[in-house]
Amino acid sequence: MNKVIYASRGGNTEKLAAAIAKGAGCEAFSVDSAANIEGVDTLFVGGSIYAGKIDSSLRKFLDKLSASQVRNIVVFGTAAGNKSALAEVKTILEPKGIKVSDEAFQCKGSFLFANRGRPNDEDLKHAEEFARKISEGSTHAL
Ligand SMILES: Cc1cc2nc3c(=O)[nH]c(=O)nc-3n(C[C@H](O)[C@H](O)[C@H](O)COP(=O)(O)O)c2cc1C
Repeated sequence: MNKVIYASRGGNTEKLAAAIAKGAGCEAFSVDSAANIEGVDTLFVGGSIYAGKIDSSLRKFLDKLSASQVRNIVVFGTAAGNKSALAEVKTILEPKGIKVSDEAFQCKGSFLFANRGRPNDEDLKHAEEFARKISEGSTHAL
């Protein structure tokens, strides 16, 4: 079973989360309502960058996550610039023995006057295809 969780202050990463969930054939939950993580094969974790970091609600969620709850993590997200959440998520989870895939989905997210309309339809299509490919791979690996 796969699952999608995300933190999104302005809705950009929430849009990606819906596309990722569609591609992976599962549901997307905001971190605030994602209490029940058990027996998850691939947990897709969505987060944006705010002042160089992931949102504190996502960090708290990841701090509590243990290796017995998930098999591996795939990160996705948006940002105004080029930084993604991947490095920070790895720093939190890898010391706990939770595998974080180097394959991640990242695209531009609108911020003030930058990146208007992003993620756009094409971004969402790519996110959906990315998740479909990943989940097909994880199904084969079982
Ligand atoms: C308070 C704040 C700080 C931000 N800081 C950064 C930053 O340091 N680097 C960056 O690339 N984008 C930054 N952004 C842009 C967001 O990462 C971008 O708008 C993202 O798509 C927001 O996702 P969300 O709508 O899911 O919250 C910032 C946005 C906000 C609101």
